[in-house]
This record gives sequence, C-alpha cells and structure tokens, in this order.
Amino acid sequence: MTTTEVPKELSTPPEIGGIGHSLKRKEDARFIQGAGNYLDDITLPHMLHMAILRSPVPHARINSIDTSAAQALAGVVAVVTGADLAAHGLAWMPTLSGDTQAVLATDKVRFQGQEVAAVIAESPYIAWDALELIEVDYDQLPPVVDPRQAMAPDAPLIRDDKEGQSDNRCYHWEAGEKEATDRAFAEADTVVALDTHYPRSHPAPLETCGCVADVSPATKHVTIYMTSQAPHAHRTVFALVAGLPEENIRIISPDIGGGFGNKVPVYPGYVVATAASLLIGRPVKWVESRSENLISTGFARDYYMHGALALKRDGKILALRVSMVSDNGAFYADAQPTKFKAGLFHIVTGSYDFPAAHIVTDGAYTNKAPGGVAYRCSFRVTEASYLIERLVQNAAYELGIDPAEIRMRNFIQPEQFPYHSPTGFVYDSGNYPAALKLALEMVGYDDLRREQEAARAEGRLIGIGIASFTEVVGAGHSTDYDILGLKMFDSAELRVHPTGKAILKLGVKAQGQGHETTFAQIVANELGIPANDILVMEGDTDNTPYGLGTYASRSTPVGGAATAVVARQLRDKARKLAAHLLEAAEEDLEWEPGRFFVKGAHDRGVTIQDVAFAAYTNFPEGMEPGLEGVHYYDPPNMTYPFGSYVVVVEVDAGTGQWKVLRMIAVDDCGVRINPMIVEGQIHGGLTEGFAMANMQFITFDEDGNCIGSNFMDYLIPTAWETPRFELGETVTPSPHHPIGAKGVGESATVGSPAAYVNAVVDALAHLGVRNLDMPVLPHKVWAAINEAGARSAT
Ligand code: CDP
Repeated sequence: MTTTEVPKELSTPPEIGGIGHSLKRKEDARFIQGAGNYLDDITLPHMLHMAILRSPVPHARINSIDTSAAQALAGVVAVVTGADLAAHGLAWMPTLSGDTQAVLATDKVRFQGQEVAAVIAESPYIAWDALELIEVDYDQLPPVVDPRQAMAPDAPLIRDDKEGQSDNRCYHWEAGEKEATDRAFAEADTVVALDTHYPRSHPAPLETCGCVADVSPATKHVTIYMTSQAPHAHRTVFALVAGLPEENIRIISPDIGGGFGNKVPVYPGYVVATAASLLIGRPVKWVESRSENLISTGFARDYYMHGALALKRDGKILALRVSMVSDNGAFYADAQPTKFKAGLFHIVTGSYDFPAAHIVTDGAYTNKAPGGVAYRCSFRVTEASYLIERLVQNAAYELGIDPAEIRMRNFIQPEQFPYHSPTGFVYDSGNYPAALKLALEMVGYDDLRREQEAARAEGRLIGIGIASFTEVVGAGHSTDYDILGLKMFDSAELRVHPTGKAILKLGVKAQGQGHETTFAQIVANELGIPANDILVMEGDTDNTPYGLGTYASRSTPVGGAATAVVARQLRDKARKLAAHLLEAAEEDLEWEPGRFFVKGAHDRGVTIQDVAFAAYTNFPEGMEPGLEGVHYYDPPNMTYPFGSYVVVVEVDAGTGQWKVLRMIAVDDCGVRINPMIVEGQIHGGLTEGFAMANMQFITFDEDGNCIGSNFMDYLIPTAWETPRFELGETVTPSPHHPIGAKGVGESATVGSPAAYVNAVVDALAHLGVRNLDMPVLPHKVWAAINEAGARSAT
C-alpha cells in the first residue's frame, strides 16, 4: 500500500486518526459479522409482499389485462394495473431528467421488462405465483433497438404518449465552437478519425433494488425504506408525484449493498408499493429479483461516437470534433444536471490543451430499458474519456510518434491551471506530466518498448496501452448543476456531546464507500476528536440535513467540504469557550490537534473534550449553549481528479486471446482522506474498467430481447480473471476544497477501459489495426489479425 503525504497543517497523530490515516472501516464490523441492516432484512408487522409483472415483449399495444384469476388466488390481497393507478393520477411519473415514465403501462409497453401489473399478497411466493395467472393481450409493434435507427426519419415513434414529440430524439446538445473548429481542421496537416461504440452495461450491484412502504392508515405518515442513493431528492419527488405533504414522508435508506448509479433513478416499483400501502393500509415490501434488476433497471453507456482530431505533423492537437448518439431507452429516466443534457460528456477534450472543439450530442429513445445512469462515472465522462484516449493513441500511430510522447506534447501544463477548456469547464488543478512520468517509470517504459520490438521479431504480440484521463466530479456549483431544479449542494450537521463525542449527519448516503470512517476522519482533523468517537449518520430524511445524495464521486467534494466547514465553525466557537476557561484572550490561544493552549505556555491548555463539556456546563454569559451546527455547501467549482494508466498485454495471434501482463495505475485525487479506502475504490474501478474492455456488456437481439438477464450471460469478473494492479499516486490538492480533496470513487472505471483497449490495439498497431470495439473479444482480435494478414498479402 502507498502512503499519502498529508500537508503538515492537516496532520494528526494516529490516536486521533484524521486525514491520511488508513483507518480500518468502522462499518465493516457489522458487515463482516452479517449484522448489516439491508432492505430485505426489514420486516414490519402485518407486512405484505409485492411482485411485478413485466412485459415479455419490447414494443406492443396493450389490448387488455385480465387479472381475475390472479385476484382469486388464495393469499392475494390486490392486483394493480395501470388503469387502477390512472384512477389516482399515478399511471405516469416524472423522471429525474424531467421526462415522464409509465409507472404501470396503460397504452403500450415500450421495452422488454417494463412494469405492467403488480400483485400484492401475503407472501412473496404467492405474489410470484399469481403473476402467472395474469393474462395480457398484446399487439406487437416493430421494436427499435439501435439509437442510430431510432434517429432515422422513418423509425416508428416510440414516445407517442408525449405531446409534441414527433421523432425519437430525446435531446440535442452542442458545446464548443463550430467555426473555430472548422478553421483548425482546414489548417491541419492530418486528421485522425475514429468511430466507436461504448457498449451497454449494467451496474449490477450485489443487492438489487427494493423498498418497504409503510403508510400509517391513522396518521397518513409515509415511511419508505428504500435502496436509494439520494433519499432526500427522492422524498421531494415522492411528494410531487403523489401530492403528499413532504413532512409526512420519511425515506430511510438502510445499509445498501452497492449502487454504482443503479439506485439513483426512481423506479416504478417504489411508487406502486407506496400506493398499495396507502390504499391497503398495510406495509408492502418489494424486492427485485436478479433478472428483473438486470433487464429493467437503469443501464449505463450505449454510446455511438465519432471523433476526429486535427493535428500538426509534430503531433500537436489543433482541434477535436465529436458527434455522438446515446441510447437512452424508452424513458429518459436517470438523474441529469439540467444544463448538461449529455451529462459531462463535454470533458471529451480530456487532459490536453488545444483551443478548439465542437461537440454535437444526441440522445435517442429506443425500445430498451432506460439507460444512462452514472455507472461508476460522473454523468458520461467514461465514454468521453474513452473516445479521446483512443483517438490520441491512434494519432500517435498515424504520425509515428510514441504514444507517451504525443501525450506529453499536448498535456495542459501545471502552470496553466485554473485551465479553461474549449467546452467551458474550468479545471481546478492538475499535474498531468508528473502522473504519466510516474506511471512510465513504474512500468519501465523504455525497456518495455525494446522488449516489445524483440518479442515482435520472434512473432509474439506484446502491446502497451496508455490512458491519461481527467475526471470532473463533485457536482456541483448551483449556477450550473441541478437535478429537477434542486441545486446540487450538500450538507453536514455536527453535534459535539458534553462528553466530547460527536455525531455527524450527512445529506449524502454511502452504498459501501466507507463514509462512516472517512467523514469521521475529516471531523477528527478539524476538531481533534478521535475519529472513533464520531458517529456518522446518513440516509434518514427525518434525521439528516437535505442533500442530493451519493453518486458521481460527489460525496467528498461536496459533503466532505460541508463537513470540514461546519467543523471549522464549531472550532471557532470552541476557541471562545477555551478562552473563557483559560481566562485568556482568544487571539492569545493556539491550536494543536485536539487542544487549545496559551501562546508561549504550552502547559496552560484545555482539550476539545474540556471545551465540549463547558459548552453545556460552563459557558460565558450571553453565549448560546451547546456545540453544534449545520452547513450547506455550494461548491465554487467541480474538482478534477486525474491519472495515468499503463497496461501491458500479450495477444495470442492464433486465438486472439489477450492477457494482462502488467497494469499500472497512478491516480491523483488531491489529498487522500483514507489512503486504504481510496485504494479500495481504485481497485474496484480498475476491475470494472477491465470488465468493460474484456467481457462485461449487454446486447439486445433484433427483436429487442435482452441478452444478459443473468450472470451466465452477463459476465462480471471474479478475482480469477482480474489482473493484479500496481498503484501509484501523485497529490495535487484542489485549491478551492477546504481540505484539498477531490473525489475518487469513479476515476478508475473512467480511466482504465481505454488503457486496456489501447494495449491490445498497440500489440497489433504495426499490422495497421486501429480499431477494436469494446469488449475486445478474442474473435474480434483474431479477425483483425487475419484481415491485416490478408491486406499485406494482396
Ligand atoms: O460519492 P462517493 O462517496 O461515491 O465518491 P468519493 O467522494 O470519491 O469517495 C469515495 C470514498 O473514498 C469515500 O469514502 C471517500 O471519503 C474516500 N475518499 C478519500 O478518502 N479521499 C479522497 N480524496 C477522495 C475520496
């Protein structure tokens, strides 16, 4: 494990365990003892169970739904259809992107797996059995499963429910400057272009989605235990959808077994279970099966991208032109900052300094489940990063420049920060050459290139792939980032008890990231209270301050900043209390972790615990008692973590199989709060990146059937397939973040897929191979080698 260098003013001794200490995760004590409290662990008195009938076909008109046999089954309490919901105005709901989505289908089904009816029964088994008894008469319609087809003028209209919608486009968005880009292309010595597809993928968290909705018939109070990455925002959406007073709604996200973006959207199951509980007057539990989760809940990626780089002969990039179309499925349902309809795709200019770019992005409706969740990435940065890194690598081959060298020639230099990108971002800080240099040193790049040459002479195919990525995380400043109008601030409420222990309540909500440990470390740093004396609480909307939730690596940049700021406010008050206790002037006091003392008299001091006690027992006249506060943090900018990855592969020319020989990952997320947790995040992300490059994708056949509804078809890597990772780090603090931290949760998934693909392409580059779409399956590699062979023979 590497160690983080913590700036001196931020360091605390191990017994306090502030920033930079690899504290073991507090939450793991309950997880590894099987004592977590996940959604399916929750059982309420008189609880009923709900199962959902889903469409077997991707596009069809519903002629009729006969629920009589299901209703008659013993133990069935109710069968709900779209028509029942329509009677209460609940057949459709708004999505987090401002679109509409059917809760239960009324007119048509628009993707395979769409919710058609629900059974509420005394046991989950009865509910599942009853689904078999529901008869639905469908008139099948032609499905559209490719977004490029969806954009064709003669494509069947999928969203004919939407007034004014005459085609399948769900957004059109442009960034950058067209004229300047066209001029740069006209002046270029060469243009390198690439058409590529980033395949559809599913986050597949270990725990599927679900809820227990409990509406009190007496008070009409609604408590919903829910697998939610954003409980506060979901509460507001519930209030709006159901027209319920918001103070009567309490959402509790218990322990969550992984989210990865999958638990951000509001799913129809949550709404139906809540409506059923309201109408029946008993708690209703709904837990998805694995296949339901895989075919019907938020997918990610599915981007068809065309990119072109205008270059000078010396490798200097002049401009980038991109057009892409994304497959959003039948409903545009994922959370989207409203001013960034294509997510943060516009960071496609990556780590490079060039003056002009023009990006045209289109989103399409198709007959597929809703897509586009921020699966371990911040709103499409993954696709963007993949495109630019594939383009730059190919530019190196076209110009005969080493792939590391071409990057070095084009990097934004450390002194250029804050850097204004051609698409309008202001990068806060970075040192890209340092990260790549370290990665090259770690892998022994020069020697490796020589070994590659020697291996080639023997007929062996070694490839070295590089990806130098820039992430944009920490959404975000209220001027630019909101979800359904809710600005993307976040919050922290901190209370120090009389005995000097503390409770920190947050607007974010972890799904396994270790917030109970790292956020306690931030407080430990600021107040000198040992991290183990600080309880971190998240996920209960009645007992935590409002926040926009955890996804897209926003917790540390936004919630972490709120925590540091509120702790500093408490320290200011603590100073006043200390001055009172020491009978000294405030300005004569000095602070060391956990203690104030009189300047020049180190022995004359009081601990933070003494001060906390005084806040309740012995405070100066006129001072408000207690030691607590709340802070809502509106970040001034995003943070921009970055890194450089190098992958070495060997390709078997006979079979097209490739194996990873080395994987070096140098990450920079500014100051690391808990280096061990950061490394865990990076390992997870690198594994997912490897999976995308190698095996993990979901396709649909031309009839719209989802191929990948189980883990036999949808391949998630295990420790067996996963390569060994060698990690390095550089530390470039964020200048505007109170503790200099940038988010890290998603970086490795964003950065690494291109490095793997680049490595396989690099192994074949001398054969003229330039493009291999993900996942890089052996038969594609084999075909590329054979095509190259055939080309050279003619
Ligand atoms: O929003 P999310 O928690 O998924 O992402 P994040 O803010 O990047 O944090 C992921 C985990 O890594 C959290 O436990 C963070 O506190 C921790 N982290 C850290 O220790 N130091 C950093 N500089 C960034 C994140």
